[in-house]
Amino acid sequence: MEIYQDKLYALADSIRAREKGDVVYLRGIIEFSNYCRRNCLYCGLRRDNTKLGRYRMSPEEIIKRAKEVAALGIKTVVLQSGEDPYYKLKDLVGIVSRIKELGVYVTLSIGELSTHAYRELKKAGADRYLLRHETANRKLYEVLHPDGSFFNRVRCLYALKDLGYEVGAGNMVGLPGQTDDMLWEDLLFMEKLQPEMVGIGPFIPHPDTPLAKEKGGTLEQTLTMIALTRIILPKANIPATTALGTIHPEGRELGLKVGANVVMPNMTPQPYRPLYQLYPGKICVNEDPDACLPCLKRRIESIGRTII
Ligand code: 5AD
Ligand code: SF4
Ligand code: FES
Repeated sequence: MEIYQDKLYALADSIRAREKGDVVYLRGIIEFSNYCRRNCLYCGLRRDNTKLGRYRMSPEEIIKRAKEVAALGIKTVVLQSGEDPYYKLKDLVGIVSRIKELGVYVTLSIGELSTHAYRELKKAGADRYLLRHETANRKLYEVLHPDGSFFNRVRCLYALKDLGYEVGAGNMVGLPGQTDDMLWEDLLFMEKLQPEMVGIGPFIPHPDTPLAKEKGGTLEQTLTMIALTRIILPKANIPATTALGTIHPEGRELGLKVGANVVMPNMTPQPYRPLYQLYPGKICVNEDPDACLPCLKRRIESIGRTII
């Protein structure tokens, strides 16, 4: 199989080179709140995890940090949080429109909302929305999301598309109970949805969740899914994810060599960074707030690519 694996990676890499060139896109991510009303079985931010210290950044703090990110030359600001009802729609609209004044693209990643809310945020200037489908197998989805339905997830993704967002879907690899057939379901789901972005990362078991004792996803499995996604969606923007960089010291570089073309430097200010603990061992959490940008630049140049 090994030899076919290498051919798969080479094919994906050549499609990436043809469609995207050797430039790697940067998306600066600000994780502005780790409160979450949901209880996803895999996630360290789930509401039943009482061991986690919670934080919220104020709108002013978020905007100030976005200004700093823009001043570093990063052209896309990603605002991510748990599903935190503390921020009202009008607060979010205010934050988005203020950040848009900086002349950057704004990506939101704040979970499932009403179509009305998605529409107002689009009007405020939001350009893109990340909402991984997590798994396209309805049964597995519903086991992992006790307070969600696959139907609503899909409703959100299509609503975002209809509203003109660039949409980011994607799944975790190596989830408990996930078979190879289910990974094919993920690929078929995305082939139908045609998302502009696809985030794929390994599942990493978190000790303070019900999945603490489960096995995590492997490097090989994740790289295979990235490569297949690049082949199926040649024009998609595919990040080499932080989770991939967490399970292997060169995980992100390897992702970039098998189809990925985006990296997302962590721009969350301290002291909040270690508290956004979706999974254990997350890289970058003890760094100086601006350290990830030069680190990624060096890593990308080491594999003969350039950043933009
Ligand atoms: N392991 C890997 N990825 C995780 N996420 C949440 N919890 C975990 C975990 N334990 C991912 C989900 C979510 C994204 C923000 O982080 O896919 O969409
Ligand atoms: Fe909340 Fe997202 Fe974590 Fe689910 S995956 S518990 S919605 S932060
Ligand atoms: Fe964050 Fe290297 S990318 S420290």
